[in-house]
Amino acid sequence: MLFASGGEKEKAFCGFGVECVVRELTEALASAIDAKDGNTYGHSHRVGELAMVMGTHLRLDAAQIEELQIAAHLHDVGKIGIPDAILNKPARLTAEEFAVVQRHPVIGWQILRRISSFQQVARIVRHHHERFDGTGYPDRLCGTDIPLASRLIAVADSYDAMTSARSYRKAVSAKEAWQELCRCSGSQFDPEAVKAFRPVVQREREWRSYPADHLFFAINSENDYLNQGKRYSDG
Ligand SMILES: [Fe+2]
Repeated sequence: MLFASGGEKEKAFCGFGVECVVRELTEALASAIDAKDGNTYGHSHRVGELAMVMGTHLRLDAAQIEELQIAAHLHDVGKIGIPDAILNKPARLTAEEFAVVQRHPVIGWQILRRISSFQQVARIVRHHHERFDGTGYPDRLCGTDIPLASRLIAVADSYDAMTSARSYRKAVSAKEAWQELCRCSGSQFDPEAVKAFRPVVQREREWRSYPADHLFFAINSENDYLNQGKRYSDG
């Protein structure tokens, strides 16, 4: 686990354990990121939950899923260092503006690496815009040199971006977004990560019909279902 538990000395604020406090701080920071970027309200939370479901489908262990979920919630924390005028521009960005936005994975890594137990989370955040074919940024890593969690987050991030409206474009449908993920499988995205997202798409339309407050309940129910070892093909 990221945060070793046990022992009264590790009990922290309000009687909760360190892990609980870190989880709440992560959620709070994700809310701060989403509040700063008016174009993408709720994006960090949705990517966090979508990535967690993917990790569960891949049967990652509890520590890997915890790391994945924290990194997914914080993947865009570096946007804190990007000027509001660029982040909230109600139009497509110029090439120069896009180059500024492209700094956010490294800024995020610089922020998170200051936390001793977040070294791997920082690395995952740094590489969430790498592409499977090695043409991404900031380090042009290729294939499995890209951390697995970064490859999973890349898929969840793109799906949520495509299916969310922006001030300068409409949202695409879940079906269209899924087709785009498949089209870019092997080039932008790890084919295994795309495959792990398929069950998410199958259930996602149902989730989107829930009121926002019920989304977490729906996703938690999904994880309970998966943890029972069942498969969607079981019916
Ligand atoms: Fe990003």
